[in-house]
Amino acid sequence: MIQAIDLTKRFGGKAAVDGLNFEISKGQVVGFLGPNGAGKTTTMRLLTGYLPADEGRAVVLDKDVAHDSMEIRRRTGYLPENNPLYEDLDVVDSLHYSALLRGIKNPEERLRRVKDAVAICGLKKAVDKKVGELSKGYRQRLGLAQAIIHDPEVLILDEPTSGLDPNQVQEVRALILDLKKEKTLLLSTHILSEVAATCDRVIIINAGRIVADGTPESLSGDLQDKNRLHVALKGPPAEIGMALSRLSGVGNLRPERVDGEEDGFLLESAAGHDLREKIFDLAVERRWPIVAMRQERLSLEEVFRKLTREEKA
Ligand SMILES: Nc1ncnc2c1ncn2[C@@H]1O[C@H](COP(=O)(O)OP(=O)(O)OP(=O)(O)O)[C@@H](O)[C@H]1O
Ligand SMILES: [Mg+2]
Repeated sequence: MIQAIDLTKRFGGKAAVDGLNFEISKGQVVGFLGPNGAGKTTTMRLLTGYLPADEGRAVVLDKDVAHDSMEIRRRTGYLPENNPLYEDLDVVDSLHYSALLRGIKNPEERLRRVKDAVAICGLKKAVDKKVGELSKGYRQRLGLAQAIIHDPEVLILDEPTSGLDPNQVQEVRALILDLKKEKTLLLSTHILSEVAATCDRVIIINAGRIVADGTPESLSGDLQDKNRLHVALKGPPAEIGMALSRLSGVGNLRPERVDGEEDGFLLESAAGHDLREKIFDLAVERRWPIVAMRQERLSLEEVFRKLTREEKA
């Protein structure tokens, strides 16, 4: 549904987007992450045809953005960063206008779409206000409403939750989960918990290049240099410690409290070396019930920091 093929954009000789390759299939929700200046907005503008590529191609809905940008815009919703709005219009009029621009000519259908978008984006209180009088969060809601007004198959959202209060962040998250059932979504964000909550896949870019692409879980696993497992078994602690230390693959073992359980242990093993089954077998054999067992994982925050330390101004 969305494809970047060697996509490249330079500003003043410097590459902002540097040979990107990815393909997003129908129904996927992809979080697009990267530090400030990494090239997220530029990539989204290339994908939506608002900016021409210097090299490579952007293909959306099987159409080349360079040749079919009008059709792609009709079938794609785009929330730009710092979404420009007509300040003098009423909210409701600005939505009717967006619907018209998107080719919804039938007045009844337009009315229905405007109503839906108002409801979905929590704009009811603001419909009669002038756009220029809206708070930042409401401007963002209006931008979202405009992006979904024509019920597009593909949605490209540049920081959809920027400027929203925590309640609205939660609502937009629910909206994304709802849209997820029928749409393909690419969304950029700096809120990593949002990605873990809504996205099937994460693409992290740094200085215009992809540095990671996978499910949030797989990225945590890939970057882990060792496995850390917290275990507590019920039984004589000294014997348990001895037995655990003898398991093959255990590199390091230390007594600790695990999830409130005294006499627990921290076990380290080489990356990719999962001790859980061996511990389960041991527990069964020695009749030491497992009261806690937790594998430590890198958080998405840690993954992000590991991959994107160098920022670009
Ligand atoms: N119109 C432009 N003219 C010149 N340079 C630009 C232009 N647009 C973007 N850039 C540069 O391209 C690089 C990527 O910018 P971009 O806005 O795509 O980053 P971003 O990942 O969206 O960052 P942020 O998280 O701050 O929104 C930056 O170095 C930026 O200064
Ligand atoms: Mg940006």
